[in-house]
Amino acid sequence: MTVPLVIVGCGGHGREVLTIAHAMNVAALLPRWQVLGFVDDRPDEAHLKRVQRLDVPYLGGVSWFSEAPADTHHVIGIGDPRVRRSVAERIDRYGIPAASLVHPDATLGVDLRYGPGLVAFAGARVTTNVTLGRHVHLNQNCTVGHDCELADHVSVNPLAAVSGECRLAEGVLVGTTAAVLQGLRVGRDSTVAAGACVVRDVPAGVVVKGVPAR
Ligand SMILES: CC(C)(COP(=O)(O)OP(=O)(O)OC[C@H]1O[C@@H](n2cnc3c(N)ncnc32)[C@H](O)[C@@H]1OP(=O)(O)O)[C@@H](O)C(=O)NCCC(=O)NCCS
Repeated sequence: MTVPLVIVGCGGHGREVLTIAHAMNVAALLPRWQVLGFVDDRPDEAHLKRVQRLDVPYLGGVSWFSEAPADTHHVIGIGDPRVRRSVAERIDRYGIPAASLVHPDATLGVDLRYGPGLVAFAGARVTTNVTLGRHVHLNQNCTVGHDCELADHVSVNPLAAVSGECRLAEGVLVGTTAAVLQGLRVGRDSTVAAGACVVRDVPAGVVVKGVPAR
């Protein structure tokens, strides 16, 4: 079964998402993705040049979805959770379903529940009894421990570790190499800075940095 797929965002994150679709095809996982191209409302010239080098067309802005072929799926290749949420809301109006992409070298454990639009990069490790919302992005070599709940549009960046029984609310970004210790909650739209170690609950809408994170 081959499914047409469009990647939203032709920046670095979007092009990395393309590598997951390729890796899934090479590993002969089903469905096979037929990547139709990238859409992006405001593509950067440098990014467009890089897209050209990948031999994948740039299709236009998000409104391209109004004339998408039947059964086209999308995946959002945008790393910022808040931007991803607003783009997802726009795409939902076109009724285009979200695909979930899981790199063959990601480990998704048992009793995992996840919403559409999951992107799990190479080396992402999720253990057991984990719940992930819509459009959650688990970047390269991050870990998500047992019994965690990550709400819609959460991003866990490369090498970050989310310990067991954590709850990350919608739109949370956990920066590269950060740690969130077991059982903690991070409030809606908060950011855990790269390298931070979260040792107590984090309220909504804040940035916490450092070790311990403040
Ligand atoms: C913290 C972060 C969100 C920026 O927050 P900000 O408040 O806008 O930070 P600014 O860049 O304005 O810097 C403000 C101060 O925070 C410091 N700072 C920035 N990032 C920091 C970090 N990760 N840890 C500790 N301090 C940091 C700056 O040095 C600066 O310090 P100063 O006031 O003493 O000069 C960002 O640096 C970050 O860590 N984002 C995560 C990004 C990530 O994971 N990227 C990988 C993508 S794959």
